Amino acid sequence: MTRDIRQVAINTGGGDAPGLNAVIHGAVHAARSLGWRIFGIRDGYDGLLEPKNYPNGGLVELRRSTVRDISHLGGTILGTTNRGDPFCRLTKQADGSMKEVDRSDELIDSLRKNRLDALIAVGGDGSLSIANKLQKKGVSVIGVPKTIDNDLESTLLTFGFNTAVSFATECIDRLHSTALSHQRIIVVEVMGRHAGWIALHSGLAARADAILIPEIPYQIEKVAAHLRRKHLEGKPYSIVVVAEGAKPVGGGETLKARERGCADRLGGIGETVTAQLQELTARESRCVVLGHLLRGGSPTAIDRILGLTFGAAAINALSNGMEGVMVALNPPRVDCVPLEKAIAELKLVPGDNEFVITSRALNICFGDAD
Ligand code: F6P
Repeated sequence: MTRDIRQVAINTGGGDAPGLNAVIHGAVHAARSLGWRIFGIRDGYDGLLEPKNYPNGGLVELRRSTVRDISHLGGTILGTTNRGDPFCRLTKQADGSMKEVDRSDELIDSLRKNRLDALIAVGGDGSLSIANKLQKKGVSVIGVPKTIDNDLESTLLTFGFNTAVSFATECIDRLHSTALSHQRIIVVEVMGRHAGWIALHSGLAARADAILIPEIPYQIEKVAAHLRRKHLEGKPYSIVVVAEGAKPVGGGETLKARERGCADRLGGIGETVTAQLQELTARESRCVVLGHLLRGGSPTAIDRILGLTFGAAAINALSNGMEGVMVALNPPRVDCVPLEKAIAELKLVPGDNEFVITSRALNICFGDAD
């Protein structure tokens, strides 16, 4: 049954990803063409939960004119946060201490008071898990899969991934000549959290000699032996791509920071691997951390189109009476999958993935190679 929808909200949560503005553009055009009003919530849910922080309004009406020139821009015009979980918000107490407080009822109340009939939540696994909980508490939610990490089950692609991989590939391409000139090992650390998609795709595209991903724990001695062998065979330099979540056999991920109310911050494995490879190969080594550069800049054409399509598809899903689903790329179409299922983490399956097989064929080491 189609509900009577007149006004919808859209928000962007978690780390930004190129293509967010294209999603907003697509959703606004689709909503306006149905005669619906559409409002953006500033900074995740903060615009509704902390209205006093927004003198110009925490809820912004989005018109065609607002989004006319944004789909090629990186970032998000609405702002985002990864500290904004309404179910578990770090809140300052009267005595100055910080406490995690469930403010979801307050948020739902605010959605109702503002006569918002549905919510389009654009996010990765964290933001979509929040969206799923809101759906269970009675809010009509449609999720849109965003993350450069591409680690969401049920969609072939998340928007942002293609831009991140394209930029990482360009950076690694550039490192070949300087690595060759100095006959060095250059280790490139890329983002991706607990999945190796960015490392794998950019490493393959940019002809790395070794790619270390979380799904295949590495043995540094084997990586060093692989590079030494290639050196003896005549390749005077090496490029190693390391996913930030890569870990040695029997070891854990390298953390930069652990903070209450936030996901763990990964990072630092690149420097460790660089020092170890220099020691084991006796070759000068350098580390380049691409970090947030992978999230910045303009989305590629693929991410713009994916974003526009996802935004329009989210509105289309609502107009077809759907809720509690995430729009998903399932070529040749964009369809909807239950949010519950969509938030599962998607990792590479070693040995079961054609890219892993390609890597073997190209003699690219995964750290466990014989
Ligand atoms: O999930 C996207 C992502 O860029 C990860 O690849 C990375 O680990 C994390 O976000 C970094 O988050 P922050 O912006 O909080 O440093």
